[in-house]
Amino acid sequence: MATAYATEEASPVTVRDCEPRDLDVVHALHVDAVLHSTAIWQEEPHPREYFDGWLAERRAAGLPVLVAEVDGTVAGYVTYSAFRPHQGYRHTVEHSVYVVPAFRGRGIATVLMDALVAHARAADVHVVIAGICSSNTGSIALHERLGFTTVGVLPEVGRKFDRWLDLTLMRLPLS
Ligand SMILES: CC(C)(COP(=O)(O)OP(=O)(O)OC[C@H]1O[C@@H](n2cnc3c(N)ncnc32)[C@H](O)[C@@H]1OP(=O)(O)O)[C@@H](O)C(=O)NCCC(=O)NCCS
Repeated sequence: MATAYATEEASPVTVRDCEPRDLDVVHALHVDAVLHSTAIWQEEPHPREYFDGWLAERRAAGLPVLVAEVDGTVAGYVTYSAFRPHQGYRHTVEHSVYVVPAFRGRGIATVLMDALVAHARAADVHVVIAGICSSNTGSIALHERLGFTTVGVLPEVGRKFDRWLDLTLMRLPLS
């Protein structure tokens, strides 16, 4: 089912489940983030084919992969999965949100996150975690705006581009 939202966009933003036809955009966002940012702590991008299995596995597990569409163009996506694998973490998820560069700064991530949080509430999620590179001030500002609070910083737990990276952990309780 697709839901339409009003934002700063001139056209309505529609949020719907990701379909295989959207995976070229998902892959392009992944490649951009891997090659040019510390949003993902990985140096080699996955090939396009990886995302076929990625989507199928998430769907089979009942996990959301939602895309935002503006005038028929995919503008970004959001997803969550288990925070950690052990059963005791079953009410806690960790999410990722990516917006196509040309659509940034127009409220798309906010719309995607609102839809994701609605999905999480319906799925009996108690806490949503964001693990964000501490230098990603834009993402930290976004999550603060969405009500997440920083609960800790893990210094130098990552390495990319020949430097140590700190991980900021942010938390949004839903119940
Ligand atoms: C971070 C990201 C998802 C934000 O998407 P977006 O659609 O531009 O975000 P929104 O327009 O919904 O922003 C909502 C609020 O978040 C904050 N925010 C978002 N991006 C920001 C930035 N680059 N700098 C400062 N604040 C920012 C602002 O408060 C903004 O409200 P405002 O525009 O009224 O000031 C997007 O820049 C992106 O995809 N970045 C690359 C991937 C990434 O870092 N993902 C997160 C990994 S943890």
